[in-house]
Amino acid sequence: MTLEAHAKVNLTLEVGNLRPDGYHDLRSVVAPISLFDVVELEPAGDIVDASGIDFGAENLAVRAARALRRAAGVEAGVRIAVDKRIPMGAGLGGGSADAAATLVGLDSLWGLGWGRERLMKVAEEVGSDVPALVHGGVVLMEGRGERVSGWKGEVDRRPLVLLKPSVHASTPEVYREFRAEDRGMGPNDLQPAACRLHPEIRLALEALVRAGGRDARMTGSGSAVFARAEDRAEAERILERLAGGCWKAIAEVTA
Ligand code: C5P
Repeated sequence: MTLEAHAKVNLTLEVGNLRPDGYHDLRSVVAPISLFDVVELEPAGDIVDASGIDFGAENLAVRAARALRRAAGVEAGVRIAVDKRIPMGAGLGGGSADAAATLVGLDSLWGLGWGRERLMKVAEEVGSDVPALVHGGVVLMEGRGERVSGWKGEVDRRPLVLLKPSVHASTPEVYREFRAEDRGMGPNDLQPAACRLHPEIRLALEALVRAGGRDARMTGSGSAVFARAEDRAEAERILERLAGGCWKAIAEVTA
């Protein structure tokens, strides 16, 4: 079974209070975009990672398969191969997207028939962004990330130009650096903290603006940033003006 695991951008991200469980309450509008990893699932005796990629910690797709096997009380296995196209450590939800696609795929491969609503409970265990990506579409994500509802507001359909500086932003580190004064400085409350830790992110935002990008901002805890273009032709021009060396791409909101 072959699945497309779509990346996300946080169109907005408001950080609330630190909770007793170590997470922050947040409120974020999350949109899936046209950039995706390809996740290949094949029946197997055990849960096997066949991606051949160093994920640093554990492959979230494998963690998702283990969590679903536990929750469903089944003996089944799966061979998971992820073809990575979404840069890692970017705030584009690549690992979470792989996990979400794996849950949806295994629901049918293992014949569970749970549906997305029930899978979202398991998704919570895997990571804060995973329930939103299992839900699908543009969503409002609240709480730690477990309260997800379809976004009823306007969705800007203009193309996005994405740029990822060569730094890897660690989500826990960025949350630790977050200060109350950072709130409301822009659409993403984590952006000032990430820029303090990694000045390359500030430079990437400036580069996007200089190249003609509009409404430049960071996604998630970084390090990728994105801006709007009026249309595809303008997006191509902005992309060309950005210096080489960093990962860059054009994408659209897909929902
Ligand atoms: O759930 P996930 O593994 O994506 O979270 C990574 C880290 O990001 C957490 O350990 C926590 O430090 C931080 N985080 C947070 N509040 C959230 C989501 C993540 O503080 N709502």
